[in-house]
Amino acid sequence: MESQNKDLGATRLLNAQTHIWNHTVSYINSMSLKSAIDLNIPDIIHKHGKPMSLSLLVSSLQIHPSKSAYIHRLMRILTYSGFFSLQKVPEISDPSEEGYVLTDASTLLLKDHPLSATPLLLLLVSPAMKKPWYELTNWFQNDDPSPFHTAYGSRIWDYANANPNFNHSFNEATASDSSLIISVVLESCKDVFNGIKSLVDVAGGTGTTAKAIAKAFPEIECTVFDLPHVVDGLPGYANLKFVGGNMFEAVPRSDAILMKWIVHDWPDEECLKILKNCREAIASKGEAGKLIIIDSVLEEGDVAGDKHNNKTVESQLLMDMLLMVLYPGKERTEKELANLFRSAGFSDYKIHPVLGSRSLIEVYP
Ligand SMILES: C[S@@+](CC[C@H](N)C(=O)[O-])C[C@H]1O[C@@H](n2cnc3c(N)ncnc32)[C@H](O)[C@@H]1O
Repeated sequence: MESQNKDLGATRLLNAQTHIWNHTVSYINSMSLKSAIDLNIPDIIHKHGKPMSLSLLVSSLQIHPSKSAYIHRLMRILTYSGFFSLQKVPEISDPSEEGYVLTDASTLLLKDHPLSATPLLLLLVSPAMKKPWYELTNWFQNDDPSPFHTAYGSRIWDYANANPNFNHSFNEATASDSSLIISVVLESCKDVFNGIKSLVDVAGGTGTTAKAIAKAFPEIECTVFDLPHVVDGLPGYANLKFVGGNMFEAVPRSDAILMKWIVHDWPDEECLKILKNCREAIASKGEAGKLIIIDSVLEEGDVAGDKHNNKTVESQLLMDMLLMVLYPGKERTEKELANLFRSAGFSDYKIHPVLGSRSLIEVYP
C-alpha cells in the first residue's frame, strides 16, 4: 500500500513536471511552424504533388548543406503536431520509406491559398507582437491601458498609423482571417443578408469581408468604414466604397451594419459608445435593419482544461489574453453581450454558432 502511494506520488510529480515543461516551451510549436513557412516547406510539398521523401525535401530547400541533417527534426515535431503526415512514397520500393504530405492545417498555410492563414501567423509570431508580452507583469503593476501601450507608449492603432510596415502586416493579417470567415458565413448563413440594400462594415479593415459580400449580393451597396490610415487610397468599385472616419464619432447610415472582430477589441465603456453609434446609424426599420456581429461567445464560468480538453474554449481563452495585451479588449459571455446590446438600445438578438470558436450574432433595433 505504502509503495503504491509512493508510485502514485512519483507519477503525479512527473506528470506535473511534463505539464510545466510542455507549457513552458509551447512557443517552440509556433516558432517551428514559422521557420517551416519561411523555408517554404508547405508550398514545396504541395508543388511536388505526391508524398515527398525527406531526402527530396532537403534537396529542394534553400538551406546551407551543413543543415541538411536537421530538417528531419523540424519535420518530426510538425508531423507530431498535425501540420504534416506521412504516406508511402509511390516510386520507392522500400515499404518503410514514407514521404510528407500536407494536412488540412498546412494546406491553409500555402502562400497562394485564397484563404491562407499565413499572414496572421507571421504577424502574431513577429518580434513586434511578442514585445508586449514581456511587459505583462509590469502592466499589472502600472496604470497603462494595455501591455502594448507599456511596450510602445501608444495604442496599437496610433502605432499602426506611425509605422506603415506594421500597419500593412496588421491589415494583411486581419484580412486573411476575414477571407476564411466570410466564405463560411456565405456558405452557412447567407440568409442573414436577405433584404439588405445597404451595409456598412464598421472598422472593416481593408475590405476583404465587404468585398465578398458585395460580390455575392450585387444589389447591396457596401461601405468599408475604418480609420483613414487604413482605407485612404483604396479604390472602390461598382457597389463597394471606402470611407475613412472614427467610429467613436459617428458611423455612416445604412440598412445594416457589420462588425467583425471589433466588439471584443474594446472595454465595456468604449464598446457601448460604438454600439450606440451603430444603433443610431441603422436606417431600415424592416427585417434588413440589423447589426451583424462576428465574435466569440464565451461559456459562462471558468472551464478546467484538464477536464474538458476543448480546443474551442482554449482558442477563445488564448484570444481573450491576446485582446487584453494588445488593445485592451475582452471576449464576453452571452450575458455580458446581452447587457451591452440592451444598454445600447437594441431590443433582441440571435446567436448563430456556426463559425468554430466564433459566432455570427444578429442584433435587432
Ligand atoms: C482587429 S481589426 C478587425 C478588422 C476587420 N473587421 C477584420 O476582422 O478583418 C480592428 C479594426 O478596427 C479599426 N479601428 C480601430 N479604431 C477605430 C476607430 N476609432 N474607428 C474606425 N475603425 C477603427 C482598425 O483600424 C482595424 O482595422
